Amino acid sequence: MPVPSILVVDDDRSLRELLQMHLEERGLAVEVAGTGAEGEKLAREKRPQVIVLDVHLPDRSGLDLLEALRQTTDAPVLVVTAFHDMATTILAMKSGAFDYIRKPIDLFAFDAALDRALEERRVSSSAKTLQLGDSASPDLHALVGNSPPMQEIFKEVGKIASSKATVLLKGDSGTGKELLARVIHRYSAPSRPFVAVNCAAIVETLLESELFGHERGAFTGAVAQKPGKCELAEDGTLFLDEIGDLPLSLQAKLLRVLQEREFERVGGVKRLPLRARVIAATHHDLGQRAGERLFRDDLYQRLKVVTLELPPLRERAEDVPLLVGHLLRRINERTGRKVTKVPPEVMAELKRRPWPGNVRELENALLRAVVMAPGDVLLPELIGTSPAPGPPAMEGSGAPLPPGEAVWTLEEIERAHIERVLAATGGHRGKACEVLGITRPTLERKLRKYHLAVPRRTRART
Ligand SMILES: Nc1ncnc2c1ncn2[C@@H]1O[C@H](COP(=O)(O)OP(=O)(O)OP(=O)(O)O)[C@@H](O)[C@H]1O
Ligand SMILES: [Mg+2]
Repeated sequence: MPVPSILVVDDDRSLRELLQMHLEERGLAVEVAGTGAEGEKLAREKRPQVIVLDVHLPDRSGLDLLEALRQTTDAPVLVVTAFHDMATTILAMKSGAFDYIRKPIDLFAFDAALDRALEERRVSSSAKTLQLGDSASPDLHALVGNSPPMQEIFKEVGKIASSKATVLLKGDSGTGKELLARVIHRYSAPSRPFVAVNCAAIVETLLESELFGHERGAFTGAVAQKPGKCELAEDGTLFLDEIGDLPLSLQAKLLRVLQEREFERVGGVKRLPLRARVIAATHHDLGQRAGERLFRDDLYQRLKVVTLELPPLRERAEDVPLLVGHLLRRINERTGRKVTKVPPEVMAELKRRPWPGNVRELENALLRAVVMAPGDVLLPELIGTSPAPGPPAMEGSGAPLPPGEAVWTLEEIERAHIERVLAATGGHRGKACEVLGITRPTLERKLRKYHLAVPRRTRART
């Protein structure tokens, strides 16, 4: 490999000479320019690996030049300036500077930044470029995955697409249940409405009217007749998200509606037909909830006839590269960035992680990395190192660990662990204390300290 070359653009001659000497001592090849025009020309002709750029140039603003350079070269640019105010710094980083160095230059800080930039070049040239966006119309709403369980799901979707059968979607948080519901809709009734109701987010009294609508005067505040989601879905899809959290009283009503395919508005007598296909989703184990009498067994039996289960991401690590490509394309589009290179060691790390928050957590980790990426490479430090083996995964644990933090503090681990134990014990404080090996007052103190809410539904049991 040829000696890496550095281009220094600065109108301050003594600084230029100092940097040149310093860089040559480090065994690097150096080009220098005193004006913006000269700098732009050298950048084009000499193709330096890294560019050091002063913000204050006699002929043009360095930030301006920076934007121009971004179009012609992907060499990292280290911006040097005496103006270390907020605006200049933000603007420099926003214009695509790799890093920002203050004058007077501290050579240690300068070397550190330069090393990072050279490392980025090295990784970048060895990184495998993902095939992003090369198909004519990339399907940004696709459910991607080529693992056997995902292939099986695609087949099932094909089979059920042309029927009106009620479908139950199971899977941990972030595995793609809502996305799957939309895909089923797209392949069965694409031009018809898709109407979603989150059964966990609306209080019981309002939920009934939300689902079935109400007549004028049905209850205080019902000043006009209002159609419910069952009606608004027409002959499209009614998506009942978090069905496991549907209050028991409404479970009975919903069962009847599914059996008779008819419903009435709250306060009404007219029976209206349910024409929509119903897709229900939950991260709960409904069988278990039925055993605990939190979910009606008859409704569960009715719903589970056609069940699609999305496996956790850690059980299909082979899907990770495809997902990373797909998600990066989506994130690049959304953020206007162009992070397209993923070094093999980064991909290996992403495949290795347990991803308790599944695809959503992977997506968030990538989003954070893209936003922080100085260039077009997903550098290892952007995804952080994975935390030390965390608290053991627990069956039925609903609370994902804090996603992808580079380093965890003890408090973060403690908070996440308490949250998981509470979720695993269904909010039973006594049991949680046993599992955690602490006393009740200690648990209460920690709940207050971390502002933790005990899962609401089962609080009455303690
Ligand atoms: N197979 C996949 N391909 C592409 N994107 C996916 C896939 N699975 C999930 N996603 C993306 O991950 C995010 C989370 O998915 P989604 O909201 O469907 O999960 P969920 O199972 O409904 O989670 P929760 O139980 O927390 O509601 C979304 O941005 C979704 O687009
Ligand atoms: Mg969801």
